[in-house]
Amino acid sequence: MGEPAGWQRSVEEFVLTQIGDPPAKVLEVGCGEGELARALACVGHSVTAIDPRAPEGPIFRRERIEESSAPAPFDHVVAILSLHHVEDLGMALGSIADLGIPPTGERVAAQQSHWFRVADGKVAEHWAVRDALGMMRQLGVMPS
Ligand SMILES: C[S@@+](CC[C@H](N)C(=O)[O-])C[C@H]1O[C@@H](n2cnc3c(N)ncnc32)[C@H](O)[C@@H]1O
Repeated sequence: MGEPAGWQRSVEEFVLTQIGDPPAKVLEVGCGEGELARALACVGHSVTAIDPRAPEGPIFRRERIEESSAPAPFDHVVAILSLHHVEDLGMALGSIADLGIPPTGERVAAQQSHWFRVADGKVAEHWAVRDALGMMRQLGVMPS
């Protein structure tokens, strides 16, 4: 992975190349200290960067993706080393889809499995598996 500054630079170069010419409306999920968000804003993209521990600043919001009120829709959503920190990945992907994809009008049917551990008559734990990729494909926003 190389030393941290080199890793950060290569992430920035990769993301800038993927997004292409500014201006694009970009959401970063789990921005950490905000280096990537600042680099994207610096070249002219309109950036919103969310993280419960986001720094201060006009492009940053201190919030979790699951409850984000970021101003959708976005042209691109980027998450670097952050989604594995999210407790409910299915919900997070749903939020990302809501924030990044304008309504398609497509009907979807996606399978989900939920498991609950009940203790003293209350739900103590919840696990879920959702076919988020299948849903995206049915929406027509991911290639089949
Ligand atoms: C390993 S850091 C990566 C930070 C940055 N993307 C980077 O590459 O340096 C993971 C980040 O995800 C954030 N995070 C954790 N749960 C999150 C959630 N539910 N929504 C948004 N960000 C979250 C953490 O606060 C943390 O800053």
